[in-house]
Amino acid sequence: MLSSQADGVEKRVSLHGHWSSRLAFVLAVTGSAVGLGNIWKFPYVVGQNGGGAFVLVYLACVALIGLPVMVSEVLMGRRGRRNPIATMALLGAEEGTSRNWRWVGGMGVLAGILILSFYSVIGGWTLSYVLKSASGMFSNATAPEVTAIRDGFTGSWKTVVSFHTVFMALTIFVVARGVERGLEQAVRFMVPALLGLMIVLLGYSISSGYFGAGLSFMFSADFDKLTWDSVLAAMGQAFFTLSIGMGAVMAYGAYLPKETSIFGASVTVAIADTMIAILAGLVIFPLVFANGLDPADGPGLVFITLPLAFGQMQGGVFFATVFFVLLSFAAWTSAISLMEPAVAWVVEKFNHTRAQAAVMIGLIIWAAGFGTALSFNVLSDFKFLRGTIFDNLDYLTINIMLPLGGVLIVVFAGWVMCRNSTSNELGSSGTLYRLWRLLSRFVAPIGILFVFLKAVGLLPDLS
Ligand code: TRP
Repeated sequence: MLSSQADGVEKRVSLHGHWSSRLAFVLAVTGSAVGLGNIWKFPYVVGQNGGGAFVLVYLACVALIGLPVMVSEVLMGRRGRRNPIATMALLGAEEGTSRNWRWVGGMGVLAGILILSFYSVIGGWTLSYVLKSASGMFSNATAPEVTAIRDGFTGSWKTVVSFHTVFMALTIFVVARGVERGLEQAVRFMVPALLGLMIVLLGYSISSGYFGAGLSFMFSADFDKLTWDSVLAAMGQAFFTLSIGMGAVMAYGAYLPKETSIFGASVTVAIADTMIAILAGLVIFPLVFANGLDPADGPGLVFITLPLAFGQMQGGVFFATVFFVLLSFAAWTSAISLMEPAVAWVVEKFNHTRAQAAVMIGLIIWAAGFGTALSFNVLSDFKFLRGTIFDNLDYLTINIMLPLGGVLIVVFAGWVMCRNSTSNELGSSGTLYRLWRLLSRFVAPIGILFVFLKAVGLLPDLS
C-alpha cells in the first residue's frame, strides 16, 4: 500500500515543466529570495527597530523557523506537483485529513498578490534610479540634494505609477513566457554580479571612517530596546526575505526533479540570502552615520545613502547605474515568484494559457498597486491603524499573513503528513531529518505563535 502510494507520487509530473537541474532550482529560489527584501527593506527595518538585538533575533528566526518552513514548502510542492492550492488539497486528502487545507494555499495566493502590489511600486522606484544614476544627477550631490531628489520622485504620483506600470509589465512578460529559460539565465549572472558590487561598496564604506559605528549599530545588542513588536518584525522579515509562508517556494518545488536534495538546496539559499542582507547593512549604516542621516528614515533609506556614496566615488556614475540595474534584476526575479502561485492556479483551474493568466493576475496586481503608489504622495496623510495604505499592506502581509501561512505549512508537514511521506520525499531519515522534524513539529510552530500572540498583546506578561 505504502509503496504503491510512493510509486504514484513518483510518477506525478508538473503541468508547467521542470527545472533543468538542481542548480537551476537553487538559482531560481535564490533569485526569488534575494531581492528588495535584502537591500531595500532589511537596512530600514533594522534602522527602525534599533539595530543589533533585532539583527540577532532575525538570524535566529532564519535558522530556527525560516529553514524548516522552507524545507516543508519544497517537499510539499514536489510531492503535490501542482499549484499551492491544489497541492494542499491533494496532500490533505492523501494524508487522510481534509481538502480544506487548500485555504492555506488560497491565503498564500492572496498574500502574493498583495505583496507584489507594493513590491512592484518599489521595483519601479529602483528602475527610475537606473535612469537618474545614468544621467549623472548624483555626481557630487550633497545629502539634502539627494533627499530632495528622492522626495521629488515619491511626491509625483504620475511618475511613481508610470514606473510601477513598467515594472509590472516586465514581470508579466517573464511569467507569461514560463520561468525556466530566461530566468535561469538572468539569475546565473545576477547573483554573482550583485555580490561583487556589494563587495566594492563595502570597500568604500570601510573607507568612510564610520565602519565601526555601522558595525556596532548592527551587532551590539541592547535587548532592553527590543519590543515584542520588533521581534514580530524580525520574524516577518525572515519570512519575507526567504520568500516563504505564501507558497512561492512550494510552487517552485513543484518543478523540482525528484533526485535533488531539499536540505542542501534550502541551506544554500538561506546562506546566500542572509549574506547579501548583512552585506547590505554593512554598506549602508556606515554611510548613514558618515553623512549624518537617520537610520530610521524608512523606505527611502537606500535611495539616499547609496546615490550619495556613488556620487562621491571615482566612476560613480557607472557603478551607480550598474548597481540599480542589478537591484532591478533582483527585484524582477523576486516579483516573478510572487506571481507564480496565482498564475499556476489560474492555468490549472480554468485552463487558461500562461499568457492569459499572467495578464489577468498582473492587471489585478497593477490596480492594487495604486494603494501603495499614492501612499507616498496624494494619500500620504490618509492614515489608519498602522499608518498609510502602504504601511498597512506591509504589516498585514509580512507580519501577519506570512507567519500565519508559515505556521500552517510547518504544522501540515510536521503533524499532518505521516513520517513515511516526509522522509520518503526528503530522501532521508537520519540526523538532519530528525532535526527538521523537531523544528517543524515544535520549535517553529510554537515560536511563531508565541511571538505573534505576544506582539498583538494576547499573551500577558508574567513578570
Ligand atoms: N524574498 C524577496 C525579497 O527579499 C521577496 C519575495 C519574493 C517574497 N517572493 C516572495 C516574499 C514570496 C514573500 C513571499 O525581496
